Amino acid sequence: MPIAELASPTSFDLTWVRSQFPSLAQTVNGHPAVYLDGPGGTQVPQRVIDAMADYLVRNNANHGGAFPTSRYTDRMVEEARAAMGDFLNCDADEVVFGPNMTTLTYAMSRAIGRELGPANEIVLTLLDHDANFSPWKALEEKSVGVRAVQFNHSDCTLDMNDLARKITSHTRLVAFGYASNAVGTINDVVEVVRLARRAGALTYVDAVHYAPHGAIDVRALDCDFLVCSTYKFFGPHMGVLYGKREHLQRLKPYKVRPNTNNIPNCWEWGTLNHEGVAGIKACVDYWEELGRRAKPSVVSHREAILAAYGAIHSHERAMTEKMIAGLLSIPGLKLYGISGPRQFDRRCPTVAVRIEGHTPLELATKLGERGFFTWDGNYYALNVTEQLDVERVGGFLRIGLVHYNTMEEVERLLAALREIVGR
Ligand SMILES: Cc1ncc(COP(=O)(O)O)c(C=O)c1O
Repeated sequence: MPIAELASPTSFDLTWVRSQFPSLAQTVNGHPAVYLDGPGGTQVPQRVIDAMADYLVRNNANHGGAFPTSRYTDRMVEEARAAMGDFLNCDADEVVFGPNMTTLTYAMSRAIGRELGPANEIVLTLLDHDANFSPWKALEEKSVGVRAVQFNHSDCTLDMNDLARKITSHTRLVAFGYASNAVGTINDVVEVVRLARRAGALTYVDAVHYAPHGAIDVRALDCDFLVCSTYKFFGPHMGVLYGKREHLQRLKPYKVRPNTNNIPNCWEWGTLNHEGVAGIKACVDYWEELGRRAKPSVVSHREAILAAYGAIHSHERAMTEKMIAGLLSIPGLKLYGISGPRQFDRRCPTVAVRIEGHTPLELATKLGERGFFTWDGNYYALNVTEQLDVERVGGFLRIGLVHYNTMEEVERLLAALREIVGR
């Protein structure tokens, strides 16, 4: 029996978790589907599917109208906003919905860029997904200086000395990731925020990869902006931006004239994906129920969400240990990123590998035929694959675990990989 389930049989009910996700029952060529593609997008619980379908059947309307379905839509969006406020630990009017993280980040970089010019610099990192790099790099068009922080190639951790050097009195913004979607490293967000704040710079945190694994507390982090994508943490294909109220009020969005000037709606252009927003509320409800089952004594929404993250932690950790130990025992396999269990608090259960004599595409294809869904390539973390010189040879094979995966799936994946590479 899996270690985590033995260690805490009442705090994390994997059977209940799996029963919530209908897609987990699918098969491929007679093999049970094993979803190891979470970093690219996770599966959704039935309640998210139901909420989206129900909205379309019963309440489908544009917002702001004087009739029942439109009024329902306005209420539903505000409830989802409040739910995301609980999820991120901020107020509802600091939550902006959008199509995805990339679109929200381009919009915000344009708005922040309005205030920047040749005297200013922004600091980015080479460990980031390109969605937190290119939108800021585009400000070079306005002669804003762009400085990119290196990462240590040996374990794919951010080079904090380089970061400290590159943040100067000219720095106006530091954009960086909470966790790497390519190699799984969790950055020291508190320290990066401290260094940026000391220089008077704003901070923009990409929490897309961290959100399925660790609780986010924007108040405790004291970051200025933080972005995530609900489809990476069991919700619909949408993005969410947190912005400190003072910034959302002061900065000027590019927007159409009839749109309100009130926050947060002035940052939401055109009509939102209302069925997606309905799904976001149901997604946060799922997190809360997971937490209440793990810790029945919790009272508030936020406490329930924190309890959920507490419950999934040891299960994810046990799977990570098993997977990394198993991978490292395969001859010719190279793992990129943190590999020592003592450092596992600094990584997510997302693992990038290459195996001698096999391209990542070949491995992902053969695994896919056997029902294991993994990714190959750069997953838009283009600076990472270029820096590690694997971009020209197909990038990495990425295996990503989330809490609905099982120890048995990890064991089967390791056996399948060994069979494919014949070692
Ligand atoms: C770390 C990270 N940041 C940003 C993104 C972009 O997110 P979106 O698809 O919501 O634009 C991704 C998507 O894979 C990601 O993994």
